[in-house]
Amino acid sequence: IFSQVSQAPADPILGLTDTFKADTRAHKVNLGVGIYKDEAGQTPVLKSVKKAEAKLLEIEKTKNYLGIEGVQAYNQVVQNLLFGDKSELVSQHRAVTAQAPGGTGALRVAAEFLATNTSSKTIWVSNPTWANHQNIFETAGLTVKQYQYYAAATHDMDFDAMLADLEQASAGDIVLLHGCCHNPTGIDLNIEQWKLVAQLCLEKSLLPLFDFAYQGFGAGIEEDAQGLRAVAKVVPELLIANSFSKNFGLYNERIGAVTLVAEDKATADRSFSQIKKTIRSNYSNPPAHGGLIVSTILADDALRAEWEAELTEMRQRIAQMRTLFVESLKAEGVTQDFSFISRQNGMFSFSGLNKDQVNRLRDEFAIYIVGSGRISVAGLTKDNMPAVCKAIAKVL
Ligand code: LMR
Repeated sequence: IFSQVSQAPADPILGLTDTFKADTRAHKVNLGVGIYKDEAGQTPVLKSVKKAEAKLLEIEKTKNYLGIEGVQAYNQVVQNLLFGDKSELVSQHRAVTAQAPGGTGALRVAAEFLATNTSSKTIWVSNPTWANHQNIFETAGLTVKQYQYYAAATHDMDFDAMLADLEQASAGDIVLLHGCCHNPTGIDLNIEQWKLVAQLCLEKSLLPLFDFAYQGFGAGIEEDAQGLRAVAKVVPELLIANSFSKNFGLYNERIGAVTLVAEDKATADRSFSQIKKTIRSNYSNPPAHGGLIVSTILADDALRAEWEAELTEMRQRIAQMRTLFVESLKAEGVTQDFSFISRQNGMFSFSGLNKDQVNRLRDEFAIYIVGSGRISVAGLTKDNMPAVCKAIAKVL
């Protein structure tokens, strides 16, 4: 039976990490996967996380199963982060949240819930988008279509094209929106554009599904949620898949959540019963540790303040690397304008490097970036910057 199984292609992001690990060149640099590195090139556990874990080790009394929806306190703090402390839709009980294994797990639950329980069978994703989106949605049984998002010539957003493409969507279609720090382009909608997208979704009865994996990596925790909150104010129904991999550095704990907002509490509760059924048939109930860490930090004023300071430090270091990257490319004699890198948000920069240039960076210089030309700026440091910029200057 297994002899009939064909070889799957390597994953464009995690497959690249495998190749990187196997590379024996000492000077190799991984700017592929979106992982934050500090100035020393390390991805250490946040201090606030270590303290929460020490606390949990003290007080934890059981490893009993969680409910299907996960840690109760966690699900409440997720809603506070998404919608703010004084959210009306939260006080009206229009939002329901289930803990999920990472943002990917949350997207998969959302997609399977929609495919199984609603007439929404088509999802529109940005062109370009995160390399795993199509995979997740198609596997869950949705049809994937694309709306234009990026204008290669200007290294900027093509908002008119985005609206024009979404005009072609049918009532009930799902629209995948990146809440902030668009992956891979690093280019986000401004608040006026968010309002226009919200209006379009309302008028055409489109269902927004937010992928919100970088809250706090753009401008700040509250600032980065403005687009989501603007849309949630206008449309009656939406879904959010969020992740704490990056902003809490909890990559391998696989901690995220799926949140559904309905028109009223009864509809939200009924929908939640189906979300729970989806979870039960996939992984029964989530692992506890990540949810306990996040809820412990956010329930404790001192730990929360420490986490916010650590998040600010990560955001500021990436911003510094963006400026240094642009300056260093110039210093290496690159004449093309790369100033757009300093205007992009979050971990990634969509460099415009083509496939051949990406391959040369890997083969000749041991510098790994994603095939689309996406560079993880969060992996750049003052130490590896000169080598990276020299190599880019050569392949250009
Ligand atoms: C990325 O885009 O690099 C991250 O979201 C990690 C992943 O799972 O692909």
